[in-house]
Amino acid sequence: MTTATDTLVRRSARLDLDGIEFATFADHPLDPGALRCLRYMHDIESHTMCYLRDLLVTRAHTDPDVTAFLATWCYEEHWHGDAIAQVLEAHHEPAGPERVATLRRQLPRTDRFRPLLYLFTSAVTRHLVTVHMTWGAINELTTQAGYARLAARAENPVLTDLLKRIMKQEGRHIDFYASQARRRLESDPAARRVTRRALQWFWRPVGAGVMPKAEVRFLARYLFGDDAGLAAAQRVDRQIDRIPGLGGLRLLERAVQRAVERAT
Ligand SMILES: [Fe+2]
Ligand SMILES: [Fe+2]
Repeated sequence: MTTATDTLVRRSARLDLDGIEFATFADHPLDPGALRCLRYMHDIESHTMCYLRDLLVTRAHTDPDVTAFLATWCYEEHWHGDAIAQVLEAHHEPAGPERVATLRRQLPRTDRFRPLLYLFTSAVTRHLVTVHMTWGAINELTTQAGYARLAARAENPVLTDLLKRIMKQEGRHIDFYASQARRRLESDPAARRVTRRALQWFWRPVGAGVMPKAEVRFLARYLFGDDAGLAAAQRVDRQIDRIPGLGGLRLLERAVQRAVERAT
């Protein structure tokens, strides 16, 4: 295992909720828009194990650096979902295992065949793991930016404290995925071509494969639809630009523009 991965794995921990006063939401409730975002975030954080199910049928499971990270990644994301569940529950909203079970029951029938799709794609191209590591870096960057925007919009100190703690762990996820993506793309022109194409053709904002389109668009508009949001989206795009072979894609800015256009 590389020293960087070893350090990352050893630092991994269940999210520390010490001092987060969830009960204060009773007197200072979040607005309906922020709660709608949190429902989305709860569902997607809690869906991490399902993403892992798909990934492990590929060559990713042969790389001990990747599997060590994935073990901690899945654990940390689980507790992110659990923490957001506590915010929703403080607003008397359904959350946690019950909500997660409902979401999984409502997934389209095709979802059960996703591991087969991954298995097939993995047999056709040796670059699937590289695509996935790059995709992971982009999703983690987007997630972290989304939490920062939600904290800014909600202006609730308890939520801000919680989201900052989550964002710190998302930062470590970014470090792993981005370093994997850089290392795999740097030395391999074919991997750069395949990854760029895959992102151009198939990339959608994190959670888009699971959540209804209306929710994806709402989240994009609520978090990134104003000037400060657009600047945040462009910052993420500039970070993506720095990954070898991915310059000028403007994935996030374009996704936000589409969401804003479809609302008008
Ligand atoms: Fe997370
Ligand atoms: Fe993450």
